[in-house]
Amino acid sequence: MAKDFDTMEDSNRSGNLPLQAVSDPCRRVWLQGGLGAALAAAFGPMAAGLSGCATAGGDAGGGGPKLGFAPVPTSRADTVVVPDGYTAQAIAPWGEPVGVPGAMPAWRPDAGNSAADQALQLGMHHDGLHFYPLADGADGSRRGLLAMNHEYTDDGLLHSNGLADWSAEKVRKAQAAHGVSVVEVALGADGSTGWQLVRPSRHARRFTASTPFAVGGPAAGHALMRTAADPAGRTVLGTLNNCASGMTPWGTYLSGEENWAFYFNGPDKPDAHQARWGIRKTDYYRWHLHDERFDAGKHPNEPNRFGWVVEIDPLDPTSMPVKRTALGRAAHEGAWVATTRDNRAVVYSGEDARFEYIYKFVSRDRIAPGGGTLTKAQANATLLDHGTLYVARFDADGSGRWLPLVHGQGPLTAANGFADQGDVVIKARQASDLLGATKMDRPEWLAIDPKTREVFCTLTNNSSRGAPGQPGPDAANPRANNVMGQIIRWVDDGDFDGTSLRWTHLVLAGDPANARPEAQGTVRGDLFACPDGLAFDGRGVLWIQTDMSTSAMHQGELARVGNNQMLACDTATGEIRRFLTGPVGCEITGCAFTPDGRTMFINVQHPGESPSERSDAAQPTRFSTWPDGPGAARPRSATVVIRKRDGGLIGT
Ligand code: FEO
Ligand code: CA
Ligand code: CA
Repeated sequence: MAKDFDTMEDSNRSGNLPLQAVSDPCRRVWLQGGLGAALAAAFGPMAAGLSGCATAGGDAGGGGPKLGFAPVPTSRADTVVVPDGYTAQAIAPWGEPVGVPGAMPAWRPDAGNSAADQALQLGMHHDGLHFYPLADGADGSRRGLLAMNHEYTDDGLLHSNGLADWSAEKVRKAQAAHGVSVVEVALGADGSTGWQLVRPSRHARRFTASTPFAVGGPAAGHALMRTAADPAGRTVLGTLNNCASGMTPWGTYLSGEENWAFYFNGPDKPDAHQARWGIRKTDYYRWHLHDERFDAGKHPNEPNRFGWVVEIDPLDPTSMPVKRTALGRAAHEGAWVATTRDNRAVVYSGEDARFEYIYKFVSRDRIAPGGGTLTKAQANATLLDHGTLYVARFDADGSGRWLPLVHGQGPLTAANGFADQGDVVIKARQASDLLGATKMDRPEWLAIDPKTREVFCTLTNNSSRGAPGQPGPDAANPRANNVMGQIIRWVDDGDFDGTSLRWTHLVLAGDPANARPEAQGTVRGDLFACPDGLAFDGRGVLWIQTDMSTSAMHQGELARVGNNQMLACDTATGEIRRFLTGPVGCEITGCAFTPDGRTMFINVQHPGESPSERSDAAQPTRFSTWPDGPGAARPRSATVVIRKRDGGLIGT
């Protein structure tokens, strides 16, 4: 999300102190001492961060064998730029009907579609996505489903006259433009027409801010989850601010509810729980004016029903989506699944807000194979409801601990406000404060390298780091006024369920031409800032996507970075090469591949976003006409399909 809710969300005033202040990012390397040798043995001779400072800003030269494309330069153009030999095709923009049989209202360029229309069309502000093959073998790379998030709305663009004449219908339309879409897509028979939506499709489906979700895990039925409309506390209407996505080994889709707090208008005097979660007076979305459940003064438990990872089965159009509370409540960016050697699921997640935390959940049970009358998704329908939740502490010596968020252990007792595990997961921030977890620089996406068993996490930026009254730099978050962000990497000791870890940095993002040393970074290759999206492809290339705020783009220390972009990283060498640049005002997010590795899907979110971060309804194309081009009525988020002209593997 470019809208700076992530930076407004700054509610961690706990006395949970950073372990060690380290003002020089390079010192982090030397502090590791003998750990460097251990990491080099584990990860290879160029273990990330071990060489970065010595070569800050340098060109990595010829590069490793994994990166076979010529890098693209930075760009401020209103278009998607990809390397020579590649094509980029926009499909599935906001407002296109998803393809529900018999219910496909056409997109109206004047934004004249009703709320009822919008509930049958792709939502706004595409974010995380995944591809689900619909056939085995080669055909599975030519037809499938895309599940994708719609993070938030720009009400200046969503309605013909923007915020004027605010009404219940406008609130309903905004709610319908949120959530998740499932669409069917296919590659044309001869490849010449590229990928297109398949409509109608029995799989086409929308999940919105009004769709019923079941509640699974320890918060189901909890007193803090009960409302007047749902006295059982087991069914929540809607999912909100769905940001990043993960796919489970049993074929379902995980979506993070990120900046949900800003949809609720808080009371005049928020209590301590509300304050810790950022519930305050706000009229940004204005839903509470026509939908009382978003008035947290009247319905104080309604916010407790958001901030969860939700699980959706895109392949079963009749399935009920579920909020998985055992994974903890947070401003969840997303959730990513690894598998232990004995076949249990480990779900990593982070919370994109300044000074918040990184979590992992280890399932109690093994992943079931499915079979007979049960799909694999059905066989694992409650797997994520039982297990152990942990929060991360990154120590200055390059080690770390996973601290159990388990009721009754350590300080997590009734005396401290945790009467049961439901309290622990609903108040995961407060519990993590008490355990002394490490306050991070806005954790965004994670990615797991299945070959090396390393876990990577983008820490997008934190300009409040080191500010008066705020936590100073620490080993894992080593820069004050961190406008550039970094990527941390670790290996859990033993297996993914290990309770200790060894960590270092893959890279500190930045521009070597900056005057301020802490903004120069340690990039080996092409400069970038504010890493956000992160995904491994089948060849082991790590794809990095950026999200500089529109309000900060092209200025100051970001002046040379251009528009938001996507880069590829060979994690063995640390080389980073720019692969794609996006249109004006967008962020690049979401990354999925067909099984054959020859088609890549990404999302372009909020092209043409105003530096004020809300469009002027009188001039919706002031900054961008992407993807429809000159003459377009308004810019639209869309999916971009990337292929090589010769049909080869992406990235080679
Ligand atoms: Fe929705 Fe943290 O990006
Ligand atoms: Ca972001
Ligand atoms: Ca993001």
